[in-house]
Amino acid sequence: MAKIKTVFVCQQCGYQSAKWLGRCPDCDNWNTLTEETQVAQDQRPLRQFSTPEPPQSLLDVEACDEIRQPTRIKELDRILGGGIVSGSVVLVGGEPGIGKSTLLLQTSRALASSSRTVLYVSGEESLRQTKLRATRLGEIPKDLYIVSETNVDLIAQYIKKFSPAMVVIDSIQVMYNPLLTSSPGSVSQVRECSGLLTSLAKASNIPVFLVGHVTKEGFLAGPRVLEHMVDTVLYFEGQRHTSFRILRAVKNRFGSTNEIGVFQMTGLGLAEVTNPSQLFLSERPKKATGSVVVPCIEGTRPLLLEIQALVSRSSLVMPRRWCSGLDYNRIALLIAVLEKRVGLSLSSQDIFVNVVGGVKIQEPAIDLGIAVAIASSLKEVPVEQEDIILGEIGLSAEVRAVTRPEPRILEAQRLGFKRCIIAKNNLKELKVKGPIELIGVETVSQALEAALKK
Ligand code: TYD
Ligand code: MG
Repeated sequence: MAKIKTVFVCQQCGYQSAKWLGRCPDCDNWNTLTEETQVAQDQRPLRQFSTPEPPQSLLDVEACDEIRQPTRIKELDRILGGGIVSGSVVLVGGEPGIGKSTLLLQTSRALASSSRTVLYVSGEESLRQTKLRATRLGEIPKDLYIVSETNVDLIAQYIKKFSPAMVVIDSIQVMYNPLLTSSPGSVSQVRECSGLLTSLAKASNIPVFLVGHVTKEGFLAGPRVLEHMVDTVLYFEGQRHTSFRILRAVKNRFGSTNEIGVFQMTGLGLAEVTNPSQLFLSERPKKATGSVVVPCIEGTRPLLLEIQALVSRSSLVMPRRWCSGLDYNRIALLIAVLEKRVGLSLSSQDIFVNVVGGVKIQEPAIDLGIAVAIASSLKEVPVEQEDIILGEIGLSAEVRAVTRPEPRILEAQRLGFKRCIIAKNNLKELKVKGPIELIGVETVSQALEAALKK
């Protein structure tokens, strides 16, 4: 009898080693290797669902546009690039309780209401629990099928039998393949199960949605493994104790990335927020220091957000620096520029910077807004209520042009903003007509002067 072989597999990236290691040499994470039994190659489950085809010239390959099924949830359709693409595999990740199951149940309901069969595989919750949730969301269509199952072989059989218009696997971490001895949720199982479901999706042209949990550190369990296999990765952001939920496309083979959809959790499930800028600014205080509105672009859509900074005298030897929704190192850099080039005295101040609404923003176009917010709080001079601020900051405190200024300014104009402080270099090619006044600046000092007039 063949000896049973065991290997140590990194639960983060799937790296395999013959002996245990404290640190994964591939992804540098500590304590991520666990022992798993390896299955001999000939016992591996058969992944192929279609007959193999020999290579052919790319010229001869028949291509048509992707067939997309709109879900009628507009925010989701936009993130997906116009609807669910046939045969695509979409991973929906997020913290527990953020709304993954709710969103997918709503999507299933929407598709099933236009008399297309949907198969919802609930591995975590019982049928009764899911029924209770679905009842809260509204009338249940008869074409919505549900099964409580975690054996991926059986699920594959059900998919072939029903050939539904869409399949939801909730969640991939509880699925297992009986041929593997490792426990559900381990990298081998996650990889095997998603591999099986992916090839089934491609062969049968049925779109599959996978729910993936996020570990404490904010990673999808087995992240790299999963992200490479699927076509689209959607991530739920936002704090659980607020009602906003932001769904972001991190990877999309069929649409643009960084597209976001904004939802609000209500008693009747997730409601779409069609005018997010207005919502994010609705609680903005009047005449408050340290509050600045910046127009960012997420994917294809401009979004106005409020940045708040609080600068207060520190009692610590090492003053505190804290930010939420922003890149910490970027804030440190901006503080250094303000200190060294603009001459603000910040070294003995605690500085806190926050993006209102739980949105995460990375783009450099908001640099100037952050700098003005910090200066406004330090000097205790509020920024005019109807100003927006737009510009990237370089290390010599110069203000650089931002990409796609027009849609940002138009969105601000639509919401009634009257003045825009912007990089002078942007003004040349800008073709915005209308009441909004554009103030071009070349340095951070000029911007502070324009924004913080008493
Ligand atoms: P859920 O979709 O179960 O989260 P996940 O699948 O990501 O773990 O979301 C559950 C949360 O949403 C729970 O805290 C209750 C809340 N909720 C509502 O507020 N309204 C609703 O209509 C539903 C269905 C859930
Ligand atoms: Mg769930």
